[in-house]
Amino acid sequence: MKKEMTKIASALIPMPNLIVSCCDKEGRNNALAVGSAAMISGSPCMLMIGIMPEKFSYPIIKETKEFVINVPTEEMRKQYFYLGTKSGRDEDKFEALNLVWEKGKKVNAPILMGCPVNLECKVVASMTPGDSDHELFFATLEAAHCDEEYLTKYGNIDWKKIDTI
Ligand SMILES: Cc1cc2nc3c(=O)[nH]c(=O)nc-3n(C[C@H](O)[C@H](O)[C@H](O)COP(=O)(O)O)c2cc1C
Repeated sequence: MKKEMTKIASALIPMPNLIVSCCDKEGRNNALAVGSAAMISGSPCMLMIGIMPEKFSYPIIKETKEFVINVPTEEMRKQYFYLGTKSGRDEDKFEALNLVWEKGKKVNAPILMGCPVNLECKVVASMTPGDSDHELFFATLEAAHCDEEYLTKYGNIDWKKIDTI
């Protein structure tokens, strides 16, 4: 027998464990853990992330309209949860974690080199559905990077090989 739920903490399993990085107009990098994300179109490739307005990253993404989605591995679990519990409002998380990064090729946001997959994105629209606590940012994929060892011979990402969180 099914029971109707009154509270739902997570409606879809698995939820992706991603790191979204951004850079403000003064050149300060920041990153946060993001579970609210999806690929929403293949051609052109478009992605969506949900960011809560109270997060330090929110005004940065809202203003610059750029971000990078980085896919961390199990090896980065500690850093991932650090980025998901500490705020760039209180500290420089890049410095605290000694994150190795490079400027994006198409966007002015940092690529986290320790993550095997990095997706450079430009925001084209956003909305806050109903009384959601997340603003949804819809973005085009401007450039995609993947560590060579995780690419199939056809040039796709071989997700089975990546030890995602
Ligand atoms: C597993 C996990 C998933 C998260 N998913 C999201 C998310 O989808 N959107 C969001 O705005 N915050 C999300 N957070 C919370 C932020 O990552 C967290 O509040 C972070 O400290 C915000 O950093 P900032 O203030 O430097 O932007 C998540 C945290 C964790 C641990």
